[in-house]
Amino acid sequence: MTLDIDRCRADTPGTSSRVHLNNAGASPPPDPVMRAVTDHLSLEARIGGYEAAAEAAPALAAFYDNVARLVGGRPDEIAYVENATRAWDMAFHGIRWQRGDRILTHAAEYGSNYIAFLQVAQRFGVEVVPIASDADGAIDVAALDAAVDGRTRLIALTHVPTNGGLVNPAAAVGAVARRHGVAYLLDACQSVGQMPVDVATIGCDMLSATGRKFLRGPRGTGFLWVRSTMIDRLDPPFLDIRSAEWLSRDRYAPAPGARRFECFEGFVAGKIGLGRAVAYALDLGLPAIAERVQGLAGRLREGLAGLPGVQVRDLGRQRAAIVTFTVVGRPADAVVAGLAGHGINASVSSVGATRLDMEARGLDALVRLSPHYFNTEDEIDRAVSTVGDSLPN
Ligand SMILES: Cc1ncc(COP(=O)(O)O)c(C=O)c1O
Repeated sequence: MTLDIDRCRADTPGTSSRVHLNNAGASPPPDPVMRAVTDHLSLEARIGGYEAAAEAAPALAAFYDNVARLVGGRPDEIAYVENATRAWDMAFHGIRWQRGDRILTHAAEYGSNYIAFLQVAQRFGVEVVPIASDADGAIDVAALDAAVDGRTRLIALTHVPTNGGLVNPAAAVGAVARRHGVAYLLDACQSVGQMPVDVATIGCDMLSATGRKFLRGPRGTGFLWVRSTMIDRLDPPFLDIRSAEWLSRDRYAPAPGARRFECFEGFVAGKIGLGRAVAYALDLGLPAIAERVQGLAGRLREGLAGLPGVQVRDLGRQRAAIVTFTVVGRPADAVVAGLAGHGINASVSSVGATRLDMEARGLDALVRLSPHYFNTEDEIDRAVSTVGDSLPN
């Protein structure tokens, strides 16, 4: 189950000029994905957009089949959406909120999701309850179990947060949700593409993800999966003539399946490209990808932890390929700029993206390095030595 790293790098022209350690931001797509997108754009230019979409019907159908295989769902449970935030929104704002409903969540929840919690709290009098973390920083599953009551309408969890290597125990949370019969929305934006994510194993009802991160799809693409038995319980916040049918002057019906969460107009080339990116990941194998990225991330953490003044900030027992750290006396953006000067892509994770967790730990900003399988051990070591060389004496 080992990956052919040379082949993966040959497929990724960007690896020849830069060290891409910002795959949690946006990963460079491999050649087959880029070709799928540009081929479709040129087909649109030659024969017209609608005509090109008709010709690309098999590739568009493959998008649903591939994503269904990736997450273990059914093709008619998948909606193509332009990013993870809107995918998540289509499920979340589809819930028919009532005054007094409770949302149970965790400190690692992504900022955009939390803002939506606050919005429904203001609009409908919904209560938002962050569940405490366990000693390792993951959601405390026993505390979650104890917190579920008759008013609990939703458990919303971020699987892997934007600001660190924590992997929340999504399946244990799913077991709690199932036992109490509570709907469970999983933000899998950072986990899909870097580890196996299976909706049956996890036991979630709704799952959102983006295309451009660890899946290596085009920017401006994402998807939503909704369990078939959950679909009719949601009222999509927006409908159009694809997601619904206008039956008579004063009647409409939502489209069957998860299509009701889609929109007529969209980035067709991107959808084909994301389908291709999913096929690429499936061909490599998610278990092999997970093993490789966790090995690289472990090496990176170890190297950074050995530098004076550098503190690795990742939480959790199980760790993903997101490595965050602080450097005494150097702001995160200065560290990222220093790495960029050496051709190393990194990013800053700021308090607003995961406010509850960052405030609880007294953190304002973190440097984030996120390797993918095509990175080499040598690149990891270069990143560590570049950070080391920049330290004040
Ligand atoms: C955990 C998590 N959820 C959601 C999102 C939002 O994804 P998108 O930018 O595709 O809407 C991000 C983006 O960084 C994220 O890290």
